[in-house]
Amino acid sequence: MNVAIDGPAGAGKSTVARKVAEQLGYVYIDTGAMYRAVTLAANRAGITSDDTEALSALVADLHIRLMPGEQGQTVLLNGEDVTEGIRTRAVTLQVSQIASHEPVRIRLVELQRELAASKGIVMDGRDIGSHVLPDAELKVFLTASVGIRALRRFKELKDDSITLEQLEQEIAERDASDEKRSISPLIRAQDAIVVDSSELTIDQVVALIVDLSRTKM
Ligand code: C5P
Repeated sequence: MNVAIDGPAGAGKSTVARKVAEQLGYVYIDTGAMYRAVTLAANRAGITSDDTEALSALVADLHIRLMPGEQGQTVLLNGEDVTEGIRTRAVTLQVSQIASHEPVRIRLVELQRELAASKGIVMDGRDIGSHVLPDAELKVFLTASVGIRALRRFKELKDDSITLEQLEQEIAERDASDEKRSISPLIRAQDAIVVDSSELTIDQVVALIVDLSRTKM
């Protein structure tokens, strides 16, 4: 079967999805990493986030590969390991704009569907249950309050140059941009189960989703 995990930024999707995949013996696919890789490639090529035509040409010629790695997943961009390079603040601040372009989404969704065709996948993102894998056997919408999400990121970042308030505002802006875009926005699929992780530990969320998966097998 396939498991789709969607939700806003910082809800813990990637950590949870990776652990769920581990416990089920499934392959984990982080689709946010793909949009980040495109953003990094666009940055390097000097393509601005409003240039649909250049972005379209860029994605047509881009090779993105995801491989299981020590930190969950290694991301290869045209053969180069960009696992860390796609996590910079510059990429984070731009990715949502880049991800709003139709040619980018069409190309990446195609790739994501190919990866999921053989089943046994846990895929996380924003539009997996609603658009990429509408037939996924289990769909989870993982969320938490924006304050909690910002606090988690803040602790993770350990960066003195950014305040908690700033982070909260950036997360809220990214949520709004992901929710408002016209093409496959961040939305809860009708048949998705909502899990609010505000008061739960990662392990509790993982156990909950693994249990839900077993009821679908
Ligand atoms: O999951 P992560 O926060 O790394 O995703 C980065 C960005 O990529 C999101 O804010 C969103 O703009 C975009 N994204 C998307 N569709 C997905 C996954 C991510 O638009 N399926």
